[in-house]
Amino acid sequence: MNTHQKSMLAIANQQTYDLFAPEALLNPYPLYKQMREEDPVHYNQSFGYWVLTGYRDVEAALRDERLSADRTALFINQLGNLDVNLIQNFIQVISKSMMAKDLPDHTQLRKLANQGFTTRAIESWQSIIQNTTDRLLDNVQSHGCMDVVSDLSVILPGLIISEIFGVPEAQRANLSRWAIDIGTFWGAPAPGSSNIEEYARKADLAVAHFSALIRQLIEERRRQPGTDMISLLTVAYQEQGLNLEELPPQCMLILNAAHLTTADLIPNGVNALLHHPEQLRKLQENPALINAAVEEIIRFDTPAPFVFRVAKQDLTIGGKHILKGSVIALGLGAANHDPAKFDSPEVFNITRSPNEHLGFAPGIHFCLGVVLARMELAICFTTLLRRLPNLRFDPDKQAIPRHTSLVFKGFDSLPIKF
Ligand code: HEM
Repeated sequence: MNTHQKSMLAIANQQTYDLFAPEALLNPYPLYKQMREEDPVHYNQSFGYWVLTGYRDVEAALRDERLSADRTALFINQLGNLDVNLIQNFIQVISKSMMAKDLPDHTQLRKLANQGFTTRAIESWQSIIQNTTDRLLDNVQSHGCMDVVSDLSVILPGLIISEIFGVPEAQRANLSRWAIDIGTFWGAPAPGSSNIEEYARKADLAVAHFSALIRQLIEERRRQPGTDMISLLTVAYQEQGLNLEELPPQCMLILNAAHLTTADLIPNGVNALLHHPEQLRKLQENPALINAAVEEIIRFDTPAPFVFRVAKQDLTIGGKHILKGSVIALGLGAANHDPAKFDSPEVFNITRSPNEHLGFAPGIHFCLGVVLARMELAICFTTLLRRLPNLRFDPDKQAIPRHTSLVFKGFDSLPIKF
C-alpha cells in the first residue's frame, strides 16, 4: 500500500479508532496495532487530541522539549461546555506539581522530591511492604478465594505509601478515596462522557480535602520532624529556604501516583500470569525471575498506557503538522507492543531481554517512584505465589476490567481461587 492509499484509509477509519469502545477498553492491543500500522500519528477528531502509537515517536515525544507536561488544556477539553471554575482547585494544585512542569522549573522540584527517597528510607520500605502484604493475605488465606482488586491491590499501595508518608490511620481510607476521585478525572475519561460533571466535581473537592490534610501534616512535621517522607521533604524545603506552601502539590502527586498505578499493575500481572500458565509455572519454579517478570508485566499490560503532553509550538511528528496548543496522547502501552522494537510483542515472556519498555516514561518525568514500585511489585507477586500456590481464576465469577479511563488500565474486580 502506498502512502496516499494509507492516508486515505486512515481518514476512512477516523471514526473507527474508538479507544473507548468497550472491546478496546477490554483489550486495546488490536486497536493499537491497527492505528500503528495505518496512522501512527493520528488526530482523533471526536476526542480533540492527537494519538501516537509507534515506539520511536512516543519515546522521542517523551524527551521533546517542545512538548509541555502541563495538561491544563486536556482538562479543559474534557469539560466540554462545562464551566472551568468547576475544576478551579484541581487545576491550581495539579499545575504546580512537578509532573506538570517543564525544564528548567522541573529540575529543582524533582531534586527536592528525591530527598524523600534516601537509601535509608528505601531500606525501611522492604519490611513495610512485606508486613502489609502478609496482613492483607492473612485476611483471605483461609477462604480459598479472593478478589485481587478489592482484597489486595486497591488497598495495598495506599497502605504502604500512607505508612511511608506517616499519614494517620484514621485518614487512610479518605486518602484512597480522594486519590481515586482525582485519578478518575485526571485519567482522561471519554470526552463528552455523561459522567464528566460528576467526575470533575469529585476531583475538585478531593483536591481541596487532600491539600488541607497535607498542609496539616506538614505543619505537624515542621514542629516535630520524624523519619517519614513528609518530614524528609519538609526539612529539604526548609534547608533550601523555600516556601512550604509549594510542598503540598508535590506530596499529593507522589501519594496519588503511588496509589493508582501500582493498584492496577497487580491485577494486570495476576491476569497475565493466569492466562499464561507456562510462564506462571516458570516463575513459581524460579522465583529469582521476579524482577524480569515485573518488567514484562509492565510492558505486556501497561498500567499507565497513555501520558499526555501539549505542543508549546507548531511542530511536525511523523510527517503530520501539529499546531501549538494541541493535546497529544503518547501511547506507552501501544509503543510497548511495537514489533519494530520488541520481538513477538504479543508474546508474554517473563525472561524477555532486553526489555526497554516505556511503562515508566523515560525522559525528565521518568517515574520518581520506580524503586518503590519495583520493590512493591516484586514482594507482592513473590508473596502471592508463595502463599497461594494453586492460584487460578475463579470459574464462578467474572473479572471486570475497568471502563472509565484512558490513562489508567486495570480491573474493577479480579476473582481468583487458590
Ligand atoms: C507500576 C507502578 C508505576 C507505574 C507504571 C508508574 C508510571 C509512571 C509514569 C508513566 C510516569 C510519567 C507520567 C508523565 O510523564 O506524564 C510516572 C511519573 C511519576 N511517578 Fe510513577 N508509576 C508507578 C509507581 C509510582 C510510585 C509507587 C510512585 C511514588 C512513590 C510514583 C511516583 C511518580 C511521580 C512523582 C511521577 C512524576 C515524576 C516527574 O514528573 O518528574 N510512581 N510514573
